[in-house]
Amino acid sequence: MHPLVTRRHARPRRALAALLALAAAACLGLVSGAPAPERAPEARPQPVARADARTAHTVSYDRHSLIVDGERVLLQGAEFHYFRLPSPDTWRDVLEKYKAAGFNTVSLYFHWGYHSPKRGVYDFSGVRDVDRLLDVVEDVGLYAVVRPGPYINAETSGGGLPAWLKTVEGRARSSDAGYTAAYREWLTEINRIIVPHQVTRGGPVVLYNVENEYAQNTDAQYMQDLQDLAHAQGVDVPVTHNQCCQASWTPHWAEGLGAVDIPGLDDYPQSFECQNADTVWGPWGDGITRRLKADAPVYAAEYQGGAIDLNNAGYEACRKLTGPAYMKYFYKSNLIRSGATLFSYYMGFGGTNWGYLAQPNDVYTSYDYGAMITEDRQLTEKYDEFKLQSHFLRAAAGQLAKTDEAAAPASDNPALETAARVNPDTGARFTLLRHADPPATTDDSAVLDYGDGRTLPVRLDGRDAKVLLSDYAFGGQRLALSSSELMTHTSAGGRDVALLYGREGEAGRTVLEYGSRPGVEVLDGAADVSYAREGDALTLDYVHEDLTRVRITGGGRPPLLLLLGTDATAAEFWQDAESGLLVRGTALLRDGAVRGGTALLRADTERAGEVEVFTGAGRLAVNGDRVPVRRTASGSLLGSLPGPRAVEPPELTGWRAAAEAPEARPDFDDSRWRAADRTLHADDHGFHHGSLWYRGRFTATGAETGLKLNAITGRRGIYQVWADGRYLGSAQGGVQADSDPPVNEDPGPGAFTLPDTAPGEEVVVAVLVQNMGHNDDWIADDTRFKQPRGLVRAELPGSAADIAWRIQGTRGGEDLADTERGPFNNGGLYGERHGWHLPQAPASGDWRRSRPDVEGGTVTWYRTSFRLGLPHGQDTALALRFGEPPAGHRLLMYVNGWNVGQYGAGIGPQRDFTLPAGLLRDDGRNTVALAVVAEDDSAVRLPSLVVKGNHRTG
Ligand code: GAL
Repeated sequence: MHPLVTRRHARPRRALAALLALAAAACLGLVSGAPAPERAPEARPQPVARADARTAHTVSYDRHSLIVDGERVLLQGAEFHYFRLPSPDTWRDVLEKYKAAGFNTVSLYFHWGYHSPKRGVYDFSGVRDVDRLLDVVEDVGLYAVVRPGPYINAETSGGGLPAWLKTVEGRARSSDAGYTAAYREWLTEINRIIVPHQVTRGGPVVLYNVENEYAQNTDAQYMQDLQDLAHAQGVDVPVTHNQCCQASWTPHWAEGLGAVDIPGLDDYPQSFECQNADTVWGPWGDGITRRLKADAPVYAAEYQGGAIDLNNAGYEACRKLTGPAYMKYFYKSNLIRSGATLFSYYMGFGGTNWGYLAQPNDVYTSYDYGAMITEDRQLTEKYDEFKLQSHFLRAAAGQLAKTDEAAAPASDNPALETAARVNPDTGARFTLLRHADPPATTDDSAVLDYGDGRTLPVRLDGRDAKVLLSDYAFGGQRLALSSSELMTHTSAGGRDVALLYGREGEAGRTVLEYGSRPGVEVLDGAADVSYAREGDALTLDYVHEDLTRVRITGGGRPPLLLLLGTDATAAEFWQDAESGLLVRGTALLRDGAVRGGTALLRADTERAGEVEVFTGAGRLAVNGDRVPVRRTASGSLLGSLPGPRAVEPPELTGWRAAAEAPEARPDFDDSRWRAADRTLHADDHGFHHGSLWYRGRFTATGAETGLKLNAITGRRGIYQVWADGRYLGSAQGGVQADSDPPVNEDPGPGAFTLPDTAPGEEVVVAVLVQNMGHNDDWIADDTRFKQPRGLVRAELPGSAADIAWRIQGTRGGEDLADTERGPFNNGGLYGERHGWHLPQAPASGDWRRSRPDVEGGTVTWYRTSFRLGLPHGQDTALALRFGEPPAGHRLLMYVNGWNVGQYGAGIGPQRDFTLPAGLLRDDGRNTVALAVVAEDDSAVRLPSLVVKGNHRTG
């Protein structure tokens, strides 16, 4: 790889301590030349240490790209939500996987409500330690685009606004005084953390985004205020905004009051119709990011990288909807047709709506998003496609970061069209080849005419696209033309290596310029070789199959190893961003370097197999262990690596169960609950998340003909009603309507039949409401977001009796009883208020051997524990697996006290629930607690543990 080009695109790691520790380990095994001894513990990879001195950088931009320290940078990023991965240790894992895919940037939303349970209270510790997050980003060697909102949307409760804000006067997302005072608290806190991490102070933060898709009910003063505050608090990197839905949404914030430095666009061309994944093709527009400001680069702020599962199709369907074909066609079209040099894909890894993080109208517990990395942190075929495209962007960044629209080679087949960009300084040309009719599914061929006597035969299957290079220099080589696509190139051991690829079985042609006929040796596979003195053209013709290897020497250029693969064989390669080291055969490459004649890798394997390293070094060490190698005809080192030890998850047995819900009984003592006399709305009483209990008392007149209640829960929520301890039934809670303009839809009161009442008799009504989360504020109208939760209406038809209500929710309300797990972990079930979900044995409850059936109108807890002894040096992903979601009950699940999900037919299709690694004791006892809230009599099927991924890892 051309060193300058690499450095322009990649952000160097802060410290190489981990790899140097590997080097020390490797030396142990190498100096004597004897077989590798068992590693000394101190030689194991150490956590990367913080560098003492930080180098400040300058950041600016022009119409082409961002410019850091005078060098053009092409940002290739993906979104990550730390709040959806409550496990700081695995933040590093996910971010290393981003980097290994070829990304150099991570885009980060910061979630106000996640940090603030109460006005004036902010928590940035433990799973909320975003200062640590930015350190990890820096260590891994990525740039960060920070997006602190205050509004973030993101299908999270309240769109990231804290629930307490619902009780604050003044329209959210405006310059109203009440809201302004509130958000200034948040921005002051988060800016204090972000500012020292800016590139200008030696950190990774390169862009600062304000607000989110702020297009309706806008207030320019507010946009301006956000920026003025950020600048006053030390933000000095360019400020951006992500406008919604292609360029038709305005304002773009490109000019006037509230304008940002680099306005960007969000685009989800493939829609969220996961249920129609087989047929959908770009219903939401052409997916081309427009230029919004003449002197700023084109910024694809959120480009669709997956989808929310709006219609309960399951996330595998969403992954298919946004799979490799979509990625090839839309991402490459956008690259060439828009000229964007800043990209962020939403999402790279989605994560989990653990606790009550979900905005329930759009999502359930899983936020897998059908992304390139699954919720269980496993890599998918989308990851491979990103790897092909992102490695190319990284390799070609020096040329791609400055291009202009240019004449494209003409296609002689109208079914196939071309578009091109050229780097004005080097003349390198990037040609997009795609079908003229976007949804076409035909396999077509054409000859491209470059207008200078050169032609190139090409072939393209339906719903595919290619970016073809011409007049492209790398290392000491000059690529004249190719119908194969470039994945990457590098320089190692005095020669250049280039990796090109094409669809399996398609013919390819690559033409390289040589001043005189070079020596050509086909080492593996087959290729026809010809040389024409006119045009100095060395032409290779081949079919993309497996991996063809061609060595070219002489001809007045440094030696070149040309690797010609298929999508699949090219995706077996990895390249370390900083060293350029090219590796084939591991399941992941986290780091690579060459020190003292040894190639050092930190890498994962999923099974035993080959590892091949393209290096001039003579020795290889992987994860600190020496690997015996031989030199291949390709000049690479070839060895083999062990896979992981198999893991059998323990069985979940020994369940014990206890019944609760004493709140439903008339004699329950609620005297310490809050009186809900002024308002029934839960937020007004400081109960913002999860289950809510109401108890109401009235003196019967005898004329009551029934009870009418109405509760708003958000989509997927229900409420249940008892009178004098007798279960009266359940009803669906109210939700936000989808109509435009939105109204706070109310399904109408649920009508319940009261037991016969005698005049003067005191009746106790109990209501359990499932608050599923808060609506977002997508159109900034304040009404959706401020829709109340909990009981909103109670009537006794036929009677004038008043009901006196008391309310109880999460223990402590806004004064959290559990600050470690935070505001979203718990609701107000009896078991939750009394610690039945926690790892330690509950101090109350009558726990017996479990019963498989529950009756309607009961809350039953099930608990058991299991011991893990996961192999060291492995990364094993575990999940809880349930059967078909039940219709008669809903189930809340806790692992070691953390609320990892909600399950039931009324909630979503989800059956497997990810257990974030950091919440589990790998080597010790873990507790599972399930709360079953039954609407009807039903059978409870208890879950099992399953392995979702198992790797040997560095
Ligand atoms: C965008 C929004 C994101 C997220 C996404 C859909 O419009 O900015 O926060 O909601 O849509 O997943």
